[in-house]
Amino acid sequence: MAASETVLRVPLGSLSPSCNLASSFVNSAHILSFKPVSRTKRSLRCTNSDEFSRVSKTVARGKSFHTPNCALKGKKLVSTICKCQKHDVEENIRSTLLPSEGLSSELKSDLDEKPLPVNGSLSSNGNVQSVGSKSIEDEAWDLLRQSVVFYCGSPIGTIAANDPNSTSVLNYDQVFIRDFIPSGIAFLLKGEYDIVRNFILYTLQLQSWEKTMDCHSPGQGLMPASFKVKVVPLDGDDSMTEEVLDPDFGEAAIGRVAPVDSGLWWIILLRAYGKCTGDLSVQERVDVQTGIKMILKLCLADGFDMFPTLLVTDGSCMIDRRMGIHGHPLEIQALFYSALVCAREMLTPEDGSADLIRALNNRLVALNFHIREYYWLDLKKINEIYRYQTEEYSYDAVNKFNIYPDQIPSWLVDFMPNRGGYLIGNLQPAHMDFRFFSLGNLWSIVSSLASNEQSHAILDFVEAKWAELVADMPFKICYPALEGEEWRIITGSDPKNTPWSYHNGGAWPTLLWQLTVASIKMGRPEIAEKAVELVERRISIDKWPEYYDTKRARFIGKQARLYQTWSIAGYLVAKLLLANPAAAKFLTSEEDSDLTNAFSCMISANPRRTRGRKKSQPFIV
Ligand code: GLC
Repeated sequence: MAASETVLRVPLGSLSPSCNLASSFVNSAHILSFKPVSRTKRSLRCTNSDEFSRVSKTVARGKSFHTPNCALKGKKLVSTICKCQKHDVEENIRSTLLPSEGLSSELKSDLDEKPLPVNGSLSSNGNVQSVGSKSIEDEAWDLLRQSVVFYCGSPIGTIAANDPNSTSVLNYDQVFIRDFIPSGIAFLLKGEYDIVRNFILYTLQLQSWEKTMDCHSPGQGLMPASFKVKVVPLDGDDSMTEEVLDPDFGEAAIGRVAPVDSGLWWIILLRAYGKCTGDLSVQERVDVQTGIKMILKLCLADGFDMFPTLLVTDGSCMIDRRMGIHGHPLEIQALFYSALVCAREMLTPEDGSADLIRALNNRLVALNFHIREYYWLDLKKINEIYRYQTEEYSYDAVNKFNIYPDQIPSWLVDFMPNRGGYLIGNLQPAHMDFRFFSLGNLWSIVSSLASNEQSHAILDFVEAKWAELVADMPFKICYPALEGEEWRIITGSDPKNTPWSYHNGGAWPTLLWQLTVASIKMGRPEIAEKAVELVERRISIDKWPEYYDTKRARFIGKQARLYQTWSIAGYLVAKLLLANPAAAKFLTSEEDSDLTNAFSCMISANPRRTRGRKKSQPFIV
């Protein structure tokens, strides 16, 4: 029996027809079941009865069709029909076409034919005007709803990009876990909960999928980077089709990158769902509790590492190509910390989980200390590094990681403002990555991984460096770009990551939502408001690009997708939160007093501050 089969958290019966999921949205025409496809592979399947298969066949022949629930025709259908004609019925059909009994009326009405997106335009004073009666926000909602993917007739996610004119889709027609987070939050804030609940529960089932690459399977508990809904003929019955959820754990992704961030985001969204809806029944389910624990066990497993930070390969997060972030990148550490805090809140106490909770608490303290102490950078710290002694063999070394002062890059010396600071991108033996990575810094504020003082200092830094980090479009994914030899060696001469493009110093509009949560949390919403204003000047006219290029973010990215869903959803989340700042609490975590106490014990025991003092204080959480 394959390993995955032995660890499936849900007795299968609890998911298929009699399960909670089934009772919430599976109707008689869609029979949800888990069944082995082969000896080694499981699939999540939705078998379609007559009515359903008729629908699939009609689509395959390229005609519009009507169902009792909605009419689907015109532009939207054509784009799907094209795919069917091109690839045959065995190929992937986006199931956005499938109506649902359980669909909210708003979503249903949006399945009707939509006019082309109406773009805003600039007025002479630079302010945004909407064309016709539609505001940019209305347009964004239309686009977001058009990106919804259905499985067994129920909404379960949003595709990464939905550009009707794009000829090269790659995997942008899939539901990415990380990309769905702002979509999910936008729906939660709008009071449309089903899609988020479905997403959480279906992706949980994918966690147990057996994944292998060249005969090797990564640890259980990994969540996929993305998944798609496939419609395939039913084995042995030509008159029937079935829908299959097909996950990608990195075994098909460019560069074969394992998505370390997926499970962490999943936990964060699960907690936000509970906070926003008040419905804790999802997080309390046995299968969901097991899912949380599997993610935690994978992250907390002992390895060879000396640091409390998670050791990962390059490309294991939003930056999913080689960019020199292997090791202990800040983005993963911030999400890891956040997921630990959220999981601690949600785990129901039970006999078997005491060890896990102890490990979690200890890791939280150690991680918090490590990042605040060793990743922090401001003018004072640069000066300290500048005067470091090196080759200190001892237990009480000040320069613990043996950083050579010559590593301080020349750009940084003048760049660091007098006021403000940030958490560096990565820390390894004899290596500090001094680049500023925005998602890691913003999420450190949101999760309270950064102290209150540091959080304000990061926002001070953002304000002081607005011209570099934001300029014409928020927000640079990292600063500065790798250029010349550095670019050649570190990215492997990646033509997509040329200087000031894509991951290498490109500007990503989706980061607006994390900036908004962080600035609201710190009581400084005006920072986000300023950024939103900039976005509104261009993004609709530019057709919601995935990213922008150049130092000032003046061009739409060289290979940027248009109608990129998380650019759209990121904008919506920012608008919704600015209108209702109290809702940011669904995403933020406040500093915990147990942690603060343990942290101050460690600070006072740190040799950097107590050189010469031998005694160190133990801490127990
Ligand atoms: C790119 C991004 C990644 C994103 C994916 C889908 O690969 O680097 O972060 O999830 O596109 O939008």
